[in-house]
Amino acid sequence: MPIVVLISGSGTNLQAIIDAIEAGTLAARIALVISNRADAAGLERAKRHGIPTQVIDHREFRDRESFDLALQSAIESHHPRLVVLAGFMRILTDGFVRHFSGRLLNIHPSLLPKFKGLNTHARAIEAGEREHGCSVHFVTPELDAGAVIGQARVAIATDDTAETLAAKVQQLEHRLYPACVGLFCNGTLELKGDVALLNGKPLPPTGLDLTGA
Ligand code: GRF
Repeated sequence: MPIVVLISGSGTNLQAIIDAIEAGTLAARIALVISNRADAAGLERAKRHGIPTQVIDHREFRDRESFDLALQSAIESHHPRLVVLAGFMRILTDGFVRHFSGRLLNIHPSLLPKFKGLNTHARAIEAGEREHGCSVHFVTPELDAGAVIGQARVAIATDDTAETLAAKVQQLEHRLYPACVGLFCNGTLELKGDVALLNGKPLPPTGLDLTGA
């Protein structure tokens, strides 16, 4: 199952996916890693594992549409069954998202539908939440609003800061993302309309609880 992974930064989720593939727990092949930033540390991670990389710098394009078209054609040249956003810090155009509908996943550091957007850890603490976590979802044109596939949860301790909570959530992300990519790659997961189906049955709005994955 060829997949393409899009990154902008450190690529720790990419690393978790690579590790799961190499451990034999995820039946996928990363055909290409694309970054919009040449200095993304995740590019080195890919190279260390012999995975092809490509930089497509958004600053070299006159608008979002032309950047996304270049991105789309780079991705499609590898015929992936799945495109995985792993810390890709660009808002994608509706056209791009529609093109890859049903085969585009993202990981978001909150228990969606809570805390869409940025600064999720600080906002969860500020709101007095007792638990926090991360979600993997199908990407739809509305930001962080697509059908949730799975979530992993952690209790917020009274002395947690945005930084300590971020570190806890990242640990969860590294198990959650390979698990969700695996569900897609083994053919049990699909998007029908705006609902995620597992073995043909709709998932609940918050997806599967994969905290222990
Ligand atoms: C993660 O926290 C993820 O939830 C968010 O971007 C971050 C990516 O981190 N979408 P990394 O590049 O995988 O280390």
